[in-house]
Amino acid sequence: MKKIYLIGYMGCGKSAIGRRLSFATKIPFYDMDAEIKRKTGMTIPEIFEQYGEEYFRDLETDFLRTFRDEFCIISTGGGVAMRKINREIMRKTGLVFYLNAPFKDIWRRIATDRNRPIVQRSTREELEALYDERKPLYLKGAHFKVETERRSLREITNYIMFQIERLRSHDD
Ligand code: S3P
Repeated sequence: MKKIYLIGYMGCGKSAIGRRLSFATKIPFYDMDAEIKRKTGMTIPEIFEQYGEEYFRDLETDFLRTFRDEFCIISTGGGVAMRKINREIMRKTGLVFYLNAPFKDIWRRIATDRNRPIVQRSTREELEALYDERKPLYLKGAHFKVETERRSLREITNYIMFQIERLRSHDD
């Protein structure tokens, strides 16, 4: 079985769901931003500030290309699905779940966040435009679209587990 990737906009719950999924399934969990931070010894805002966004995007692609060959759950950064090569790598090496949340929920979660450079430099309107612009690309990259609105973490996790199990039993 391959990797499980969680994709979607900032604040859609990728890390929280990834952690919970890992706890329930005992499949190891990795947060891509945290791995990039560990590898570079810099925070995400520091990388953006010192080297620019393109450099950060290259680090993301690098991560996807080189990360350990292991059955694991990976919560990706919100911009990862924008590059075609990233979508191709994820689809080839795993199952991709797109977590969809309404922008109003997202905004509530990210509005005051200081660790997200894109949020720091953008207005609410700009973030909503980016959300609309990215949506088709998340859909393109994903094998499954998961609706998170009015669903508990437990329900979302169970749904993803069900899909993993279903595909696993086909593999056998
Ligand atoms: C980004 C999302 C962030 C992080 C970086 C850029 C984006 O990850 O990778 O700040 O472009 O949407 P989260 O989705 O975990 O916030």
